[in-house]
Amino acid sequence: MPANTDSGFNRVASFYDPLARLVYGSALQDAQSWLIPFIPHGAAILVIGGGSGWLLEKLLQHTSPQHILYLEASEKMLQMARQRNQHQTIVEFRQGTDADLHPGEQFDVVITPFILDLFPEKRLTQLMQRLYAVLIPEGVWLFADFCPVQQKPPFWQKLLAKSMYLFFGILSDVKAKQLPDYKTQFSELNLQEQATKSFNKGFVQAKVFRKV
Ligand SMILES: C[S@@+](CC[C@H](N)C(=O)[O-])C[C@H]1O[C@@H](n2cnc3c(N)ncnc32)[C@H](O)[C@@H]1O
Repeated sequence: MPANTDSGFNRVASFYDPLARLVYGSALQDAQSWLIPFIPHGAAILVIGGGSGWLLEKLLQHTSPQHILYLEASEKMLQMARQRNQHQTIVEFRQGTDADLHPGEQFDVVITPFILDLFPEKRLTQLMQRLYAVLIPEGVWLFADFCPVQQKPPFWQKLLAKSMYLFFGILSDVKAKQLPDYKTQFSELNLQEQATKSFNKGFVQAKVFRKV
């Protein structure tokens, strides 16, 4: 079993989805669902940190991929995703992290759904570089995450972000302490933002990037 030193979502797997819905309503799911039409027909897709598998279910319903690699660090989350999407021959369920991508693997689409916020800066740079390396030229990177838009976020956003990091820091050993500077991270890679949509008064954002 691959080691995961990033975080441990096994402990929260059974209640993560209802908790997310309680705190954010449908915003987290809406942001991810908004990205689905940007997936081209016949794509090889990498979903990293997809969680319990509801997004995978939607991808299988609304897109026609050639292959999906569902790469998830938490054994329990992966098990839930597998149970929800049984008999899917085009999906490979792999327990692990970006370190468990195989040499030579390439994808037309990479999806990072509420995972990039988990990492301190250095680790985030490493993870994003690894994902960038497996994305084909002209490939699409679909991002959904907590992402304050304003220079000075309102009090409720700061409080929510702080509470989230405290809660998941204790329960899931999340190492990050604050929302990352995604803008700098993406601009350091050769990725062009093509579309964006805000949810939950801008605290949640979905973005489409293309590798140039
Ligand atoms: C905050 S949860 C989001 C789950 C799901 N995307 C959603 O929005 O419902 C983050 C997920 O990423 C997984 N994860 C954390 N670090 C990872 C890594 N380096 N590689 C793959 N999965 C990872 C966790 O196990 C967890 O299931």
